[in-house]
Formats: sequence, C-alpha cells, structure tokens
Amino acid sequence: MDQIVVTGGQRLNGTIKISGAKNAALPLMIASLLSEEPLVLENVPDLADVNSLIRILTNHGVDHRVDGKRRGQMDMDGRTIHFSAQEIVDTVAPYELVAKMRASFWVIGPLLARMHEAKVSLPGGCAIGTRPVDLFIASLEAMGADITVDAGYVIAKASGGLKGAEYEFPKVSVGATHVAMMAATLASGQTVLKNAAREPEVVDLATCLTSMGARISGAGTSTIVINGVEKLHGARHRVLPDRIETGTYAMAVAMTGGEVLLKGAEPGLLQEVLDVLTKAGVAIEPVNEGIRVSRNGANLKAIDIVTDPYPGFPTDLQAQFMALMTKADGVSSIQETIFENRFMHVQELARLGANISLDGQNAKITGVSELTGAPVMATDLRASVSLVIAGLAATGKTTVSRVYHLDRGFERLEQKLSGCGAQIERISS
Ligand code: UD1
Repeated sequence: MDQIVVTGGQRLNGTIKISGAKNAALPLMIASLLSEEPLVLENVPDLADVNSLIRILTNHGVDHRVDGKRRGQMDMDGRTIHFSAQEIVDTVAPYELVAKMRASFWVIGPLLARMHEAKVSLPGGCAIGTRPVDLFIASLEAMGADITVDAGYVIAKASGGLKGAEYEFPKVSVGATHVAMMAATLASGQTVLKNAAREPEVVDLATCLTSMGARISGAGTSTIVINGVEKLHGARHRVLPDRIETGTYAMAVAMTGGEVLLKGAEPGLLQEVLDVLTKAGVAIEPVNEGIRVSRNGANLKAIDIVTDPYPGFPTDLQAQFMALMTKADGVSSIQETIFENRFMHVQELARLGANISLDGQNAKITGVSELTGAPVMATDLRASVSLVIAGLAATGKTTVSRVYHLDRGFERLEQKLSGCGAQIERISS
C-alpha cells in the first residue's frame, strides 16, 4: 500500500489550483440518471470516489466519455465528462459497488423517480459514525414510495410514480436533501422540503437540475419547493470549486507560514472558515483569481469552534483545524455536532506530540511549541489530510500510511503541496 512521506519545516509559497468539489460532482453525476439525454459536467475532479461512482453508474447503463485535453489546458484543470443514461438497464446497486462509498446510495432517488423502482445496498464509506439512512427512507415514503429493508438492501417501489409531498427533515442531512430534491423533480405535483440542507453543493445540484428542465426554488434556504415535470433534458454544467479543499490548503499555509494563492477558490463558499482563520491570525485576502492566504511571523491564536451544518463551520474541516490548533498559543476547544465518531485523528496527532484531551464530542487542544515527525495512520478522508498538515509543520519525517483515504477526496495532493515548496512524496509499494 502507498505511503506519503512528509519532511516538515518548509514554508509554503506559490499557487495551488483548487479542483472541482467532490461533494458536488458526486450528486451531479447521479443526476444524470434522471434524463435520457446527456449531462455534460465540466471541472470534474480526478478522484477515487468519482471513479467508483462511474463504475456504479455504468452498471445501471450509463455511458460516459471523458473529453481529451484541449489546447491550453493544464493537468490540474478538471475533466469534462459526458454522461448518458439513455436507457437504464439495471435498477439494482449491488453491495460490492455501494460498500465503498456512502454517496453511491444516493442513486436510489433518481432510479425511483425515473424507473419507479430501485434496490440499493445499504452504504459504506468513511467509518465516522453509524450514518443511518432513515431520513432518505422517510422522505421517499412521504412521496408515496413503498420501502422495505431486506438482507442489507433497501428495496423501493413507486408503481405509478412518485407523488409530490410536504416533508420536514427532523435533522439536516446533505445526502437526504440531494436525494429528495432529485426524486421530486419527476414526481407529480409539488414537493416542499423543509429543514433542507443549505450547503453550496445543494445549490449547485439545484442549478444543474434547473438547467435540465426541473422547476426548483429555494435551494440554499431551508425550504426547497420543487414542481414535478414529466421529463428532464440534457444540460451542461460546471462543478463548483471545492470549499473543503480550499479550507484545507488555507490551513496548511496557516500551519507552515508563507504565502499561497488558492486559484479558483470562491471565498463566499467558506466565509465562516475564513473568519475563524482571520481571528487565528492568518491573513486572508480575496482577489480576482481566488484567495490569497499568508502568515508571516506572528504566532497563531487559539480559537474555539463548533461544527454545524452550512453556513456553520464544516465538519469536513474539523480535523484540519485541530491540526492547526495543536501549534496555536493557548488552549482551544472543538465541539463536533455532526458525526459522533469523528475524532479518530486525535490519537494520531498525539503521536506527533500534540496535546489533545477528549470528552465525548468535545476536544480540548493545548498548543505545543513543536511537533515531531512520526509514523501515523490515515483513518478517514479528512482525518488523513490533517496528518499531512501536521507533518508539514513537524520537525523531521512523518510517514502517513493507508493513503487510499486521501485519494478518495484530494486530487494530486503531493503535486499541489510540493509545487509550493513542501517536501512530500508518495512511496508506492
Ligand atoms: C455529506 C458529505 C460529507 C459531510 C457531510 C456533513 C458528500 C458526498 N458527503 O455527507 O463530506 O461530512 O455531508 O456535512 O457530500 N443522518 C441520519 N439519517 C440519515 C442521513 C443522515 O441520521 O438518513 C445523520 C448522519 O448520521 C449525520 C448527519 O445526519 O450525523 C449529517 O449527515 P449528512 O448530512 O447526511 O452527511 P452525508 O450527506 O452522508
């Protein structure tokens, strides 16, 4: 298995191109199931999760074609992929394919809406808590689906098609909002989703669905109204920039010092995070090309955060922020409110000399003056990048194993960081 070796101590200086958002690309790709006509997605990141989802979509009968390199296009520029679900030949999403990634469960919405049936394995994905699917089931049942769970599969039927309904999510869920919104586009009549997720990726999906002919209003607020249509048509859509990748590299620069332009980043997608970093003593400057991040000299201040659904501080940046706070002046606290088991990076950060104590969903981080390199293990997608960030600021060598977690969500991580002066390399074995 591959390892990533980081030799700490270098400041980061230069430019990092921000990729298309994984968490937007996945639901957008799944939306291709809703129409017989092609959906063309631009700026699709080259990631293991994207490739896993392509395999799942292929199994349902979706063809895909990746555009060749265009004049002037750089390796870091996202791919353009054409998805064509002219005929859906299989409405079963089997365990072997779905187990790898939770988001693949989301095919249940479009399959049910278009084919009136779906049999989808219960999902896998990162080991960050139990992550049930009750909200998906309840919202689809509200639209008239008949759903049973049997032998690890969710079996959904809607003979005669889904019917518009009013449904209030008892808890905010990004995935369940994506799925209910996609399903409702082809339901008869009006659907009103209350307490919907407000994440930018939900807005991006709604924008794409609208260009496919869907009638959606309110995406980005907690009430989304969808008026069902008979058919959706083809469209072309550009995936929005990855706010989690943006925040991750901003924190890397904050950790090492230096000055980096995050090219293509959109500050409006992560204002809360940028505000927190500013309070911590990091200079953040929105510029035409993206966001310029720098920290020169001054120490980091300890800042307390609580993770929350958008527009709050994202849980997907919690581990990275914790890595940053391990070297801040003073004591900071982090409360994780989204997932119940998302502190697995704590014991790995401790191996580098971090001083962190845990009490349930709360972590207390006492800044130390120095971290020292050590062998560590990646435990989930975002946790693993927090170890890389910590390694960049540690003295000596940090070896991160199980990097397949990183490959699920960070495109060309080593190239992006080494392009700014980091000493980082992948060792394949
Ligand atoms: C998405 C993101 C993930 C991010 C998370 C929260 C993608 C591909 N993944 O995951 O990176 O960490 O949002 O911002 O976009 N829940 C239930 N029942 C359900 C569904 C969810 O109880 O049926 C709970 C989950 O266990 C969790 C909370 O709701 O505690 C939020 O999860 P959710 O927003 O659904 O996360 P995902 O969509 O899986």
